[in-house]
Amino acid sequence: MATTYSAYQIIQKKRDGKRLSKEEINWFIESLMKGEVAHYQMSALLMAIYIQGMNASETAHLTDAMLYSGKTLTFKGKEVIDKHSTGGVGDKASFILGPIAAACGVKVPMIAGRGLGHTGGTVDKIESIKGFNTSLTLDKFKKLLNQNKISLIGQTKDIAPADKIIYGLRDVTATVESIPLITASIMSKKLAEGANGIVMDIKTGEGAFMSELKDAKALAKSLRNTATRFDKSMITIITDMNQPLGNYIGNSLEIIESIETLKGNGPKDLTDISVKLAGAMIYLGGKAKTIKDGEAKALKSIENGSALKVFKKLIKSQGGDESVVDDYSKLPKAPVVTKYLSTKSGYIQDIKCKEMGLHCVSLGGGRLKTNDKIDPAVGFVLNKKVGDKVEKGEVVLEIHHHKKQNKSVAEIMAALKKEIKITANKTKAPKLVYEIKEVRV
Ligand code: URA
Repeated sequence: MATTYSAYQIIQKKRDGKRLSKEEINWFIESLMKGEVAHYQMSALLMAIYIQGMNASETAHLTDAMLYSGKTLTFKGKEVIDKHSTGGVGDKASFILGPIAAACGVKVPMIAGRGLGHTGGTVDKIESIKGFNTSLTLDKFKKLLNQNKISLIGQTKDIAPADKIIYGLRDVTATVESIPLITASIMSKKLAEGANGIVMDIKTGEGAFMSELKDAKALAKSLRNTATRFDKSMITIITDMNQPLGNYIGNSLEIIESIETLKGNGPKDLTDISVKLAGAMIYLGGKAKTIKDGEAKALKSIENGSALKVFKKLIKSQGGDESVVDDYSKLPKAPVVTKYLSTKSGYIQDIKCKEMGLHCVSLGGGRLKTNDKIDPAVGFVLNKKVGDKVEKGEVVLEIHHHKKQNKSVAEIMAALKKEIKITANKTKAPKLVYEIKEVRV
């Protein structure tokens, strides 16, 4: 006889700190998808998980239940490698490392998200390129992956639909910052997307949702544990998000900086992180003996122009205007540039990262609600980063905007006085990479 479960008892069990079985977790998620468990009951279970936690087996069972709530893709070949970033400000590394890895023989199926809150989204950024289609059918996506070794689409409603419901509930019930819930959310989507190895870029610092290094390390460990339980190799890399990555923030501006980086003219932090992550993908995909060896290959693909060629091919194959690569005037451009000048001489000590992301949202470059429309043209160009010397009156950053704003540029200018700290003493740029660990199956 089939066991019957009740949402009440399962919530009570977790509330009291007990371990849930695979069957109980499956039943809860299946019933949620059928509409037989109410969203308020799911929310109660989420809060119980947030407070009591889940062990590695429960986390894997939750991942499994969410993963099979929708369609799953499979790709043949060890060389099919995915990359995921937990999100940050100015994080455009996907546009650089994807073409690099593909130029080095790795297949890169990118199923990317839109921006929400202070972090930007890969799909919003690439859509700055006129005509670029991120809604390909899964068949076309697979065809282009085989043809070009890279393809980029937005998340479809068929991939881990339980996560869509659960993430929405977490967002409004203060249950986002939970390691088992984050692990199940990320891994259910990544596993459904069918890559055979995954490189995880886990951001830590003021602009990341894992602001403490110890939490980022715990998340990395939980992700690796879950990957091995599903027979996937994974490299976790914890990287800095105490200041924006690179110098450009905003959708169209970030495409320009990505192209410049593929041309070999990128800022050092963005280039180094992209090369490190691409090196890990090349190694995990069996195209290099070590991550270092992968990094050397990655650098070569920038130097010889092969990565840039792949990016052009990606744009053209998905209906975009690839001439933007040689002519940035074809990208959306904000008509007004307001300069923020340094109030004193010294060294940049701090650039509040999350706040810069929120300012970009207030200019119209991001969204606070999923249905908000975004303006691809607006954003910031940072002329100075942490550790740089600055003279009084020198331009620290530019704000790219339209005349009519939902929040005035004057307000942003006033806020920057507190958010960009300048000190008389020499300062150092933060470390870029904090930890690299791998699990191979
Ligand atoms: N990214 C996700 O996909 N899910 C989370 O829970 C957090 C970050």
